[in-house]
Amino acid sequence: MSQQFAVFGTPISHSLSPQIHSAFGRQAGIDLRYVAIEAGPGDFATKLQAFADAGGVGANVTLPLKTLAAELAASLSERAKRVGAANTLVRGQDNTWHADNTDGVGLVRDLTDRHRLDLRERRTLIVGAGGGARGIAPALLDAGIGELFIVNRTPERADALADMLGQPSRVHARYLGDVAAFGEFDLIINATSATRGGVLAPLPRSLVGRRTAAVDLSYGEAAIPFMAWARATNCRDAIDGLGMLVEQAAESFKVWHGVRPDTNPVFAALSSHSASLVTAD
Ligand code: ATR
Repeated sequence: MSQQFAVFGTPISHSLSPQIHSAFGRQAGIDLRYVAIEAGPGDFATKLQAFADAGGVGANVTLPLKTLAAELAASLSERAKRVGAANTLVRGQDNTWHADNTDGVGLVRDLTDRHRLDLRERRTLIVGAGGGARGIAPALLDAGIGELFIVNRTPERADALADMLGQPSRVHARYLGDVAAFGEFDLIINATSATRGGVLAPLPRSLVGRRTAAVDLSYGEAAIPFMAWARATNCRDAIDGLGMLVEQAAESFKVWHGVRPDTNPVFAALSSHSASLVTAD
């Protein structure tokens, strides 16, 4: 019987993860089944248990469940522990879940290898302080970015994330409403889920400098407003989350199967597909 995997989140029906993992499985000659399971904070624990009872051995977790997944897990990798958020779960022998987080390494790999961005010394702004922002911030700091500013609709969560990162001279939590006064950034990352439900107010043009890269952790339809803002304000690069999605998936695949697949053919197939048909999540 094929090994069972799933991605949990909401909304999830248009997730590309089943397609990506099936393609990786074919490439590696591994027989697997990977499905999308709709779950919110209220029913995630029950649905995850039902998945385990039915033989599920590994799972990905997306919005809005990444922090909850870290809380539910019996053990955490160093990188998941550091940020209190998980996107990858592995079922252990004793039927408990081990949590990992491949978002940060996935994003950095996409930006540096695929998009050839030199991240070193980039003055960086992250908008958002939920599980997505938490997953990527440490990896960006490790990759050598310069100062990091974090803003969030709920300021306490930006404070908490900055505290968690533990580098007070380099990481600053600020009010979203004051963002116009911050000067120019070399890297601006939308880590909010705003475009999936509500609307993120457009950021001021004054944030954009000569070499600004605007990056959305979302892809498809959810990334359209921020990508449009990036182009309208002449950001040098406008990068949506499709590449990160494929790279974090490859890292999860490695956690589960011990091999890292070649992401290029899968990314190429998905980007030509999404150019003709815009998909959400
Ligand atoms: P996850 O843990 O999966 O990242 P989350 O914790 O719900 O999901 O985080 C979503 C992020 O999007 C948060 O930073 C959230 O801001 P709050 O902390 O204030 O909730 C942000 N967000 C969601 N809708 C938003 C909106 N309409 N405007 C601005 N930020 C928004």
